[in-house]
Amino acid sequence: MSASQLLAGMDFNLSEEHLAVQAAVRDFAQTELLPGVIERDNAQHFDPALLRKMSELGLLGIMVAPEYGGGGMDTLAYAIAVEEISKVDASAGVIVSVNNSLVCWGLEEYGTDQQKQQYLTPLASGEVIGAFCLSEPEAGSDATSQHTTAIPNGDHYLLNGTKNWITNGNTSSVCIVIAQTHPELKHKGINAFIVDKGWTGFSVGKKEDKMGIRASDTHTLMFSDVKVPAENRIGADGFGFRFAMNVLNGGRIGIAAQALGIAAGAFELSLKYSKERKTFGKPIAEHQAIQFKLSEMAVKIEAARLLVYKAARMKDEGKDYIQAAAMAKLYASEVAMWVTTEAVQVHGGYGYVKEYHVERHMRDAKITQIYEGTSEIQKLVIARELLK
Ligand code: CAA
Repeated sequence: MSASQLLAGMDFNLSEEHLAVQAAVRDFAQTELLPGVIERDNAQHFDPALLRKMSELGLLGIMVAPEYGGGGMDTLAYAIAVEEISKVDASAGVIVSVNNSLVCWGLEEYGTDQQKQQYLTPLASGEVIGAFCLSEPEAGSDATSQHTTAIPNGDHYLLNGTKNWITNGNTSSVCIVIAQTHPELKHKGINAFIVDKGWTGFSVGKKEDKMGIRASDTHTLMFSDVKVPAENRIGADGFGFRFAMNVLNGGRIGIAAQALGIAAGAFELSLKYSKERKTFGKPIAEHQAIQFKLSEMAVKIEAARLLVYKAARMKDEGKDYIQAAAMAKLYASEVAMWVTTEAVQVHGGYGYVKEYHVERHMRDAKITQIYEGTSEIQKLVIARELLK
């Protein structure tokens, strides 16, 4: 398989539709995302005009049914789109991933007709952006330990607490918020709510100054006696933790695809650079030391892609994909970190400066080992499935 076949994911019998998504998103990434990607990383700002273009291309609601304004495509198409975006701009990758899988998918799967009409339709079209609020200052990996409370009060709940590290924290207009309603029931007392940014008592706090995915905004969100209508609870009373876990299973495929894209993007740059850069009288690609690196990168990327596409296909086929998603996320994120570190090494001094992009890929890769469940949590999830 040639490098271009490897990068195109040629051996997966992709359908015409999948290939069309791949080509369209690849073209969009090169023409629209690549120019300005370094500046957006420096400025820690995602251009709203770009977000509009991503919406117009249907990237914010890829899997949502057309009746709710989405693209009606499958998880594999979504994974391919996130991969292609993240080859160039992993910040755009996470914006798309969170809106699609943590917000839209959860609403479409578990929301009422009214919730879908009111919230899913604008979210799927990208008219508004969503955020998923599970993590707290004391509840990251230990997600059942929710301190945010949602106490029933007549026809509404009173929401109080703080959420941390929220992707799209400022950009979003609609948030899915996980909160404890019945502490005595532990995780079975947790609920999920659709919360509107404009409601009294909802405020956006500190913006995080991050190592990577710097153009995506990450904020603390605070709730002080926010009145959430009872009809905005998602699912039955106490379904919130299961909801969060189910949503994250799918989200992990998105982050795995993001990691795969970051790795493939860094590999592509390394391959090109190694043919251009000369040392000791020949292109560095002709040195065995570099060839070994390129080979290992290619093998790992191919293996990561197999796991990511397999998890996506299992979800599309209605199979139990919990373990497959965790395996894909664990492996692809480890590969992203390894490949991007090697990509900087292949580039030498040039790799350490922003102009050559690979240092950004390396910084962006790190978060894929942390969010939507750290690598250690993925190992727990995999082991629990093995031991069932
Ligand atoms: N899928 C479905 N259900 C799951 C599940 C999964 N992957 N993992 C656990 N559950 C269920 C269990 O079956 C159990 O349900 P029952 O009691 O009904 O049987 C319940 O959840 C509690 O599970 P445990 O008893 O195993 O609870 P635990 O506290 O020992 O472990 C955990 C839970 C798996 C560690 C969980 O807390 C977890 O996944 N933590 C990581 C949280 C995470 O991924 N956070 C990401 C933040 S969001 C983010 O990053 C978004 C962003 O902005 C990019």
